[in-house]
Amino acid sequence: MKLNIALLAGDGIGPEVIDQAVKVCDAIAVKFNHEINWTSALTGAVAIDTVGEPYPDETHEICANSDAVLFGAIGHPKFDNDPSAKVRPEQGLLKMRQKLGLFANVRPTFTFPSLIDKSPLKRDRIEGTDLIILRELTGGVYFGERGRKDEGDTAFDTMTYQRFEIQRLAKKGFEMAMKRSKKLCCVDKANVLEASRLWRETVQAMEKDYPEVEVSYEFVDAVAMRLIQWPKDYDVIITANLFGDILTDEASVISGSMGLMPSSSVGSKVSLYEPIHGSYPQAAGKDIANPLATVLSAAMLFEDFDLTAEAQAIRDVVNTSLAEGVVTEDLAGDGKAHKTSEVGDWLAANI
Ligand code: IPM
Ligand code: MG
Repeated sequence: MKLNIALLAGDGIGPEVIDQAVKVCDAIAVKFNHEINWTSALTGAVAIDTVGEPYPDETHEICANSDAVLFGAIGHPKFDNDPSAKVRPEQGLLKMRQKLGLFANVRPTFTFPSLIDKSPLKRDRIEGTDLIILRELTGGVYFGERGRKDEGDTAFDTMTYQRFEIQRLAKKGFEMAMKRSKKLCCVDKANVLEASRLWRETVQAMEKDYPEVEVSYEFVDAVAMRLIQWPKDYDVIITANLFGDILTDEASVISGSMGLMPSSSVGSKVSLYEPIHGSYPQAAGKDIANPLATVLSAAMLFEDFDLTAEAQAIRDVVNTSLAEGVVTEDLAGDGKAHKTSEVGDWLAANI
């Protein structure tokens, strides 16, 4: 197969982890006889510094005309500590999600046999966890009306949802549940928020189309507690943008490291693959960041093109590297900490 992939390294550790994913994908291409053409484009703080815009039109053109986008990370502390900054790197990410129509963010949570003891949670609670949080990504409070009034002393952000936005996300959730354990949990705050009541109403109305799926409805505060206590109770979770943002960071604790969790963002056309971790600026340029979340995001990319053996080959080599201790410092414990680039080289060589 011939794949044209847009490569958006972004900020902080983005370029380093992306480099490793490229090595791995190129090794897969050789082994399975595919052709991958990479096109790099600017995004994030580096794009602001270069062209004054975190998601330039040129980058959008490249993404929109590719088969897929592989993305590193976005964000820089010089903007975080300046509430008056007019443009911020994160705006690039949001603009990209919106312009590419990436309305569904797929964030799986699973455990690695050799890493169970890295998690601060008890083994019996997490062993065998396999759930997916499907986060709505182009609506809700992230994109609602916002502003200031009363001469700046009052600020507001609004959570708005339209029925079709909930329907298209829920449809993906139901379809995913059908392929898995047939359990779907709609997570909201319907005891307080009107937007959440529309979520419930909409999902309830769709239940009849998927009679085999067991649907539950839970409040987000309760799920925040239950998710890390009883992760095996969940299969597919569908939820609004902000709730999904928070719950997916929380869920990453189950796997033992945020450096491990991949994601995909899908819409109607081109999909985007990215690690769920951020730009980790403290580690930028040091060759110490864990590249596995990005590498596993590339596995999700292959999977979406029905290249199942390719995706499995990546997961297998990652598992072997973990079992053999070819890992970066976040996972090394008392063992040897490998450099980011060494892990990438090892993975590529072992594919
Ligand atoms: C994520 C991130 C982003 C989000 C930030 C960087 C804007 O936290 O992808 O989860 O909030 O969506
Ligand atoms: Mg987040």
